Amino acid sequence: MQILLGITGGVAAYKSADLARLLVHQGHRVRCVLTEAGARFITPLTLSSLTGEPCYGANPDLGEWRAQPVVEHIDLARWADLVVVAPATADMLGKAANGLAPDLLSTVLLATRAPILWAPAMNTGMWEHPAVQANLARLRSFGHGVVEPGAGLLACGEEGAGKLADIAVIADAIQCHGSPRLPGLTGQRVLITAGPTREDLDPVRTLTNRSTGAMGVELARAFRDAGAAVTLVLGGDLAAPWGVEALRVRSAQEMLAACQAQWGLADGLVAAAAVADQRPEATLPEKAKKTAGPEQLVLVRTPDILATLAAARRPGQWTIGFAAESERHLEHAAAKLRSKGLDAILVNDVQAGRAFGAQANTLTPLTAAGPQTPLGPLPKDQLARAVAQWWAQQLATRQA
Ligand SMILES: Cc1cc2nc3c(=O)[nH]c(=O)nc-3n(C[C@H](O)[C@H](O)[C@H](O)COP(=O)(O)O)c2cc1C
Repeated sequence: MQILLGITGGVAAYKSADLARLLVHQGHRVRCVLTEAGARFITPLTLSSLTGEPCYGANPDLGEWRAQPVVEHIDLARWADLVVVAPATADMLGKAANGLAPDLLSTVLLATRAPILWAPAMNTGMWEHPAVQANLARLRSFGHGVVEPGAGLLACGEEGAGKLADIAVIADAIQCHGSPRLPGLTGQRVLITAGPTREDLDPVRTLTNRSTGAMGVELARAFRDAGAAVTLVLGGDLAAPWGVEALRVRSAQEMLAACQAQWGLADGLVAAAAVADQRPEATLPEKAKKTAGPEQLVLVRTPDILATLAAARRPGQWTIGFAAESERHLEHAAAKLRSKGLDAILVNDVQAGRAFGAQANTLTPLTAAGPQTPLGPLPKDQLARAVAQWWAQQLATRQA
């Protein structure tokens, strides 16, 4: 993608060098536009060295509005597949929200037809000011994206909201904005479960499994990129992708309750979570003490989330399950497909440490028509995209 990175006059401008470097590393072409205030915080030389592209803006050496055979602001506006402003000052948000164009960046922002993504950063008082919030709402109403700032210790010494979002989160939002939408999945509301569940024995000990949740998180990202509105019900410790509604849960019972609350609104379900099949009969309120001799733990079954949701589905709602099998994969998965009444199962071979925590994996889709061409082996992010593409095609065929 050709990304135009606008950098405005906030302390967080130093982080935009890292963002530019990361985007180049990901294979994008990046050109930077600095405002006059931005150029006081970071130099064009740093940015052009990192991007291998000219840096545009107010630096006298570069010459803003310099006489050229091309009309620079229009040329840049046309060049960009996506315009990202990171960090975005309150000042630049205000200019863009009101159609003002006193400098190169604000003019490009008016002239471009490319999608625009804002990553604001400012003092908490500024961020919470109704004028700034009204400007943001107006920009959103134009179809612009916003990567909300996080909370933390700010350069001004205050603690609160207004800290530039993490570079990885901004890059994730950029990936979403730059991804082609897939007919079939665009506009679908998809519920995805991910991660392990944790069943507490007492305030200290817990029963869990080796799932990290990486596959489910990547699926949420891939379905989001395809144009779906994703709700992710997430166990474990991984961060949820940008632009996905995330609901954190701990136990299987909590995961079921969160899913049931969402299921009525969803078009489909991808159940990638590794849900504990058993939980302790009781969770002790205090830490259990050692006793002499053998100790016994009584386990009871947890609810079957996938079967419960599949049984409660309304016409047109689709369900995809996972089968993590260590032997006779397809046979076990086919039985699960039938008994739970699913549309598809993605069969995962967990033999020899594959799948859980592993980098690359293979999934074999299984539908009522039988096993399909295996997807992979691929790293989990690419595998998730392959799953989204495969399922988008299946849905597009159904919808046709
Ligand atoms: C040291 C310093 C830090 C600043 N940090 C921010 C900031 O983080 N966010 C912000 O909105 N404005 C910040 N400002 C104010 C902007 O630099 C000022 O509004 C400027 O006119 C913005 O110009 P621009 O939007 O064209 O880059 C800061 C100013 C100074 C002097």
